[in-house]
Amino acid sequence: MQFHNNKEKILIIDFGSQVTKLIARRVRDLGVYSEIIIPKDLQSINNFENIKGIILSGGPSSVNKLRFQSVPSKIFAKKIPILGICYGLQLISKIFGGRVKSSKRKREFGRAFIYKKKDSLLTRNFFNYKTSVWMSHEDAVVKMPKNFNQIAYTKDSKLTIIENKKENIYGVQFHPEVTHTDNGKQIFKNFLFLICKIKKNWNISSQKNRLIKYIKKVVQKDKVICALSGGVDSSVVALLVNKAIKKNLICIMVDTGLMRKNEFKYTYKTFKNKYKLNVKLIDASKIFLKRLKNISNAEKKRKTIGKLFINIFDKESKKFKNVKFLAQGTLYPDIIESKSSTGSKTSKIKSHHNVGGLPKKMNLKLIEPLKDFFKDEVRELGKNLGLSKNISHRHPFPGPGLGIRIIGNITPEKIKILQEADHIYINELNKNNLYNKIWQAYAALLPIKTVGVMGDSRTYEYTCLLRAVNSEDGMSADYFAFPKGFLDKISNKIINNVKGINRVVYDISSKPPSTIELE
Ligand code: XMP
Repeated sequence: MQFHNNKEKILIIDFGSQVTKLIARRVRDLGVYSEIIIPKDLQSINNFENIKGIILSGGPSSVNKLRFQSVPSKIFAKKIPILGICYGLQLISKIFGGRVKSSKRKREFGRAFIYKKKDSLLTRNFFNYKTSVWMSHEDAVVKMPKNFNQIAYTKDSKLTIIENKKENIYGVQFHPEVTHTDNGKQIFKNFLFLICKIKKNWNISSQKNRLIKYIKKVVQKDKVICALSGGVDSSVVALLVNKAIKKNLICIMVDTGLMRKNEFKYTYKTFKNKYKLNVKLIDASKIFLKRLKNISNAEKKRKTIGKLFINIFDKESKKFKNVKFLAQGTLYPDIIESKSSTGSKTSKIKSHHNVGGLPKKMNLKLIEPLKDFFKDEVRELGKNLGLSKNISHRHPFPGPGLGIRIIGNITPEKIKILQEADHIYINELNKNNLYNKIWQAYAALLPIKTVGVMGDSRTYEYTCLLRAVNSEDGMSADYFAFPKGFLDKISNKIINNVKGINRVVYDISSKPPSTIELE
């Protein structure tokens, strides 16, 4: 338990489902603080006083396995309301004497209809007689646990919602946290306010004040340094820390020369003049170009950029005295991901560039004020701190910047071409009110030259790839379906205005199996 020992909360036990984070979001959306922990962490909790409810998540395992993940019996002894979802329901059933059957034949994936058998506090205003929910399970409860009642069923499984009203234990086989379940939010609303009787205690404005107080208390008269990129997370961190300690926050912006057209300088001026931050701009574009010369391997590029960034930042920050802290924009999903309950090591797809190597190298203490927040909460916090919408609603931009959007080796000419194409694309998204409907969009430059014809002349130029995706958190993504005619317009505009590009393609792959960035 890392964050707020003295705060009333809903505890979410993560059994490894892909959508556990969504449970936390639904609870937060309802104005209630929640924390996700892995089952093993329950052992070390002795004080349950502020835990007003427990949600057991779904997960890929089966309670019929010899060694299955469980929870210590002390959580039931505390009489805290419990809601089990999918694996959570099966675990409750197993613990209380029911029977769970693994059956490939009876598995339910995707949409299913459930029918009401009996009224329950959990399902109040959720459905009248029948509703559509999202299922993802092979195991099903086939024998009711002791002292439980059947609330709803589907045609394939009798025990889709069960309750033990006296003990305040509930279980649902489907996933109310995913948007495919109609009115799923009502299940959480009922659990939180009718069953757990927890009060609303989570809103951005109160969080902002809490964080400012916390930063003041921790930092006192020392200095804090922060790598400001102009992205949402580092911008919000900078404004927040600045509110707490004013000029004792030193922001360093390292211009790698791999940024979008005009964006970096604009951000620098905004932070210096409008927000009055103590910010130093380092133009390192020449050295980045020099080090990247002739490197075309994607991982090598990422590593070169990341290492050089850290070295420059380290060197610059040493010029300031009495710096004790490094402020970073780590978000809640980063923290959860590093503690996956399955404990499996995911294979390394890409070496992410961030300032993660800095604290060790610089011997600084970390301040991570956003570590409780999801991305959209960070945006709201930014708004609350007066951050302009064109920064707070900026699409995510990777640390290595255009370096990983110029496929193959990087040259000043290619950077210029890509900056121009990207600028046209993003401007048109804004003009056509599409920018805020898309989670992330960008242009990339492919190292392929093809033949074209302009006027009466043959051209032999690069290909520009456009990408636009929607996603909840970047872990998975679907390509964005543009309205008819939009891509044609962009393609013409780019080819007519950017010398060096004579072909434009649109990437329609999803993640997985592709990734959002190309390298
Ligand atoms: P991928 O390409 O892995 O990207 O599907 C998922 C999200 O992460 C962003 N991304 C990065 N962000 N440093 C970052 O700060 C990086 O090195 C980096 N690489 C990818 C990417 O833009 C997308 O939003």
